[in-house]
Amino acid sequence: MKIGFIGAGKAGFSLGRFFVEGGIHVTGYYSRHEESAREAAFFTRTRAYDTLGAILRDSDALFLTVPDGAISPVFQELESMDISQKQFCHCSGAMTAKEAFLDIDRKGAYGYSIHPLFPISSKKKSYQELQGAFFCIEGIGPHLPEWKERLQSLGAKVQMISGETKIQYHAACAIASNLVCALADESLELLAQCGFSQELALQALAPLMRSNLEHLLAEGPKNALTGPVERCDTETVRKHLECFPDNEGKEMYRAVSRKLTGLAEQKNPNRDYGAMKKLLEEMEA
Ligand SMILES: NC(=O)c1ccc[n+]([C@@H]2O[C@H](COP(=O)([O-])OP(=O)(O)OC[C@H]3O[C@@H](n4cnc5c(N)ncnc54)[C@H](OP(=O)(O)O)[C@@H]3O)[C@@H](O)[C@H]2O)c1
Repeated sequence: MKIGFIGAGKAGFSLGRFFVEGGIHVTGYYSRHEESAREAAFFTRTRAYDTLGAILRDSDALFLTVPDGAISPVFQELESMDISQKQFCHCSGAMTAKEAFLDIDRKGAYGYSIHPLFPISSKKKSYQELQGAFFCIEGIGPHLPEWKERLQSLGAKVQMISGETKIQYHAACAIASNLVCALADESLELLAQCGFSQELALQALAPLMRSNLEHLLAEGPKNALTGPVERCDTETVRKHLECFPDNEGKEMYRAVSRKLTGLAEQKNPNRDYGAMKKLLEEMEA
């Protein structure tokens, strides 16, 4: 299996080096700018290609590690060539293989989405962390079990998912990472009102957030849950809701607290959360 990369950015660099270190044959790189392909080829001790045709000819599988919006246009360029029996993979969390590689089966080729559930922030350092990463894969063709085995042989964890639930999967990832940033930002804004600089606030929040996250990951959200909603402390929640300077923060607190109330009810089935629910509904009105 010879694997080539189109798109020499963070994912291309990192997956390429991850594969090479694991003994997988990587042919090399083609990219929008030749300089990027050359840099990636140097980093992985592979070859830089100056045409799509040449990297296609030399590779059994091509990873299209370009931005999501460029995956289909690049594939369209490739499908004007002989792609029979070739495998195409993309790394987008949001797109399915079918969406990205339209009608690929009619060309006698195969398409897969291989999404590293991991923030690849550095071209040159992130490959070292991919060993412990989780990959979710789906696609069109018979090679999914081979991709699963190949990634597992490199130390990664792999889950096959259905293309039909790919968008739910991606929303789940966004909630667990991006949306947490919004909650943290809201917390920082309130701490700024208490005189904390951002740096000091982050220092102060770090033990709280780390410990909470560790419990949450070890025991699940229900068991990790503490705080005024779980205690059904309606007076504190009322005061919290009143302290937001704008409606946006209040609405966010309210929406998340409603979700927490459901979790708290599961955790404490004998506690009556009626007053809490009423308070959160009242604030909605
Ligand atoms: N980074 C992450 O955390 C992460 C995690 C999981 C999945 N992914 C997925 O990985 C894919 C790539 O993301 P990335 O973070 O690696 O992006 P990136 O760092 O911006 O790299 C994308 C590369 O694609 C090249 N490119 C753009 N348009 C092209 C075209 N038409 N033809 C050939 N090359 C082109 C660019 O190359 P030049 O330098 O030559 O201009 C750029 O370096 C995306 O599908 C993304 O959703 C990323």
